[in-house]
Amino acid sequence: MLLLLDTADVRAIARAIDLFPIAGVTTNPTLIARERRPLGPLLDEIRAILGAGAMLHAQVVAPDAETMVTEAERLRDRLGAGFHPKVPVTAQGLKAIRRLADAGFAPTATAVVTPLQALIAARAGAAFVAPYVNRVDAIGGDGVRVVADIVRLFDTHHLPTRLLTASFKSAQQVLGVALAGAHTATLAPDLLDTLLAHPLTDAGVEGFLADWAGAYGPATTVL
Ligand code: E4P
Repeated sequence: MLLLLDTADVRAIARAIDLFPIAGVTTNPTLIARERRPLGPLLDEIRAILGAGAMLHAQVVAPDAETMVTEAERLRDRLGAGFHPKVPVTAQGLKAIRRLADAGFAPTATAVVTPLQALIAARAGAAFVAPYVNRVDAIGGDGVRVVADIVRLFDTHHLPTRLLTASFKSAQQVLGVALAGAHTATLAPDLLDTLLAHPLTDAGVEGFLADWAGAYGPATTVL
């Protein structure tokens, strides 16, 4: 499963890219608005940190299909290869996804919360669907189950659309979608750190260093 970062915070992106095997970035209007910066330069900076061609999923905000397509064209002119227009699974969004796919884009259908929305988006030509795991869990549903059903649907109907699973709040949810066969997960930077954190790991590393220092002094291997 590929790991993406779900943020528009350039410092967080630079740190995570340096440390972790990150394949790209997803943003949404809320994440962009949080940065309080002009959109163009912000996206340029994210593209520069990621490097040319890396996956960058940025969302359109217009309510109608025609303007969504125009927005996607402008974003592509700015962001180049690796740009995926994120389009919500509204009726107008589905129309835009179809037009974008026909025009050679690899669109991402976003705000997906049911398997049937995913199926329709895939039929419209979405390259990715983004099911929101925690938002389903938060209203008493089962987000991982939704993802598992989408994996099965795409498999059964031989659809090439991939799952860009999104909206996570816990490591358990991430493990659940990985086991269900999701192709990609996009995570907030702090959740990425949480995935690695474990008291047994910390205690183990501390113990190794203490034993080493007792025998050889400062913790460095000098051959
Ligand atoms: C998906 O691409 C969205 O940006 C995102 O994952 C939504 O997450 P949230 O439910 O934490 O806002």
